[in-house]
Formats: sequence, structure tokens, C-alpha cells
Amino acid sequence: MMSDRELIDLAIEARNNAYTPYSDFKVGAALLSKEGKVYKGCNIENAAYTPTNCAERTAFFKAVSEGATDFKAIAIVGGYDKDGLKFCPPCGVCRQVMMEFCESDKFRILLLDEDDEIKSYLLKDILPFGFGPKNL
Ligand code: THU
Repeated sequence: MMSDRELIDLAIEARNNAYTPYSDFKVGAALLSKEGKVYKGCNIENAAYTPTNCAERTAFFKAVSEGATDFKAIAIVGGYDKDGLKFCPPCGVCRQVMMEFCESDKFRILLLDEDDEIKSYLLKDILPFGFGPKNL
């Protein structure tokens, strides 16, 4: 069984591969599937800027492309190397991608606060009234 701290540590590991020549802001994510597999992701920037992919979506798209579609939790860490890790909540686009694949009253988002404590949020609380597959 994967602990919250272990999943955060995997996100920290994933952050090392962040490709961020434009912002220097490095993000790592570790997505835990219901089968117990972990998919890691980092942000990947681009010279044309808008094709940049967030760490969270990298993790989701890796997982879905490997056949996983049911998820329990995602750990996310981010910050500039010069400042260390900062509280790094997922962007709105990534929340919407979570909404596509996750039960919003069960899926947990694990974030590190400034004191290195793990905070756990439910998707429904950080994306209230979200539009998902059930709304179609
Ligand atoms: N970024 C993420 O990867 N995830 C987030 O939740 C917030 C933002 C990335 C995008 C960009 O490469 C850099 O952080 C600065 O916005």
C-alpha cells in the first residue's frame, strides 16, 4: 500500500526531469491508479510557449495511454530550485482533466505546504460544480 508520503516522494523524483528552460518553475506529479501503479509526470515547456504541458497532465496522459483509467490520488510538488518547494495547487486545465477520469468525491490531490506537511484535498472541493462525463 502506497502511503501519501511515498507518493509525494515520487512526485519530488518526477520533478527532477522537468523541462523548463523558459520559466525555471519545476513541477512533478505522481498519479496512483486503483490497481496500485504509479505514473510520474513533469512539466514540459516549449519554445512556442502554449504547447507547454503541466506535470499533472503528463502523468494522466501517460497513464491513460498505458490503459489505466481509474485513479485514487495524485501528488503534486513544484517550485523554483532557488526557493525550494512551494505550495503548488493544480491549474484549472489540469483539474478539468482530473474531472474526466476521477470520481470527484473520492479522488484526492496531495500537496505540500510550506512546512513540508502533506495536505489532502478532494477534487470536488477544488473544482466545485465541475463539468464531467456525467453531465453529457
Ligand atoms: N505548471 C505545472 O506543471 N503544473 C501546475 O499545476 C502549475 C503550472 C507548470 C507550467 C509551466 O511550465 C510552469 O509550471 C510555470 O507555469
